[in-house]
Amino acid sequence: MKVAVIGAGLMGSGIAQTCAQAGYEVKNIDVFEPAIEKAKVNIEKLFAKKVAKGSMTEAQKNEIFERMTYSSNMEDVRGAGIIIEAVPEKIELKKSVFKQLDKAADPETIIVSNTSGLSISEMAAATMRPHKVMGVHFFYPAPVMKLAELIRGIATDDDTYSKVRGFVISIKKTVVDAPEYPGFIVNRILVPMQNEAAFMVMEGCKPEDVDNAMKLGANHPMGPLELTDFVGIDVMLATMTGLYNGFHDSKYRPCPLLETMVKAGHLGRKTGQGFYKYDK
Ligand code: 3HC
Repeated sequence: MKVAVIGAGLMGSGIAQTCAQAGYEVKNIDVFEPAIEKAKVNIEKLFAKKVAKGSMTEAQKNEIFERMTYSSNMEDVRGAGIIIEAVPEKIELKKSVFKQLDKAADPETIIVSNTSGLSISEMAAATMRPHKVMGVHFFYPAPVMKLAELIRGIATDDDTYSKVRGFVISIKKTVVDAPEYPGFIVNRILVPMQNEAAFMVMEGCKPEDVDNAMKLGANHPMGPLELTDFVGIDVMLATMTGLYNGFHDSKYRPCPLLETMVKAGHLGRKTGQGFYKYDK
């Protein structure tokens, strides 16, 4: 089976890499060509590091590259058995992408979204195949993180669910079933913790104190602020805002410091400035 991944940003390119590493032929499609160029450069750098370190051979690297192709044309989803959508977290954009994919894809093709919390049923309703749509939420960095959350929309049928489950297991992820509510499982628990850490900085705590406390006192691999910089402050804030708007509950109120940072363009590692400074 061939796979198409829509979006060549951090998540899309990582998901495409994950599928290619598991042996699938993958087409990574992004209408914005510079995103494709960036994804190619990043994966080449990552693989060069792995080869130098000895965790990948030159032959394995070449085999994986042979299975990965890129395109800026959505029509190129034709022939794919499954399409994984990973475009930015904006519901109107996702609905328009789903509409285009529905027109371009073969009738039997399943379309899944990597949304971190938007409504699967709403995206499905933009297509003529809502029973063949569901959510598969990967984590960053997708090739490393072992989990994928499976989210059924209101119309997802059993056949789609079992095919998608089998596919996700075949790319070596452990699956959990998550409810179709904002944040699913992981982000509903993780993101409020990151938000609370941002409140502590707003109240005067040093970011390194908050992060060290959680790394050494709770054994987290990264502190909550380091993780927010890693994923992107804009991405984290969008998820928190999704929880707030979705549950209509003040316990999910986003930290104003995050809003100020996003307005200032301090988005974390990708812009060189977040809670910490980075060499670009
Ligand atoms: N992309 C692909 N692979 C990567 C990578 C990346 N960005 N970063 C690291 N890797 C790979 C390396 O190639 C290496 O592979 P190898 O063992 O085959 O050589 C392996 O990961 C380990 O790399 P390092 O030794 O450089 O790094 P660390 O051991 O410090 O681990 C980490 C890095 C895996 C990112 C670790 O710090 C970690 O687990 N951090 C927490 C990540 C996390 O919590 N993610 C969830 C974010 S929330 C989310 O995704 C929700 C979404 O909705 C936004």
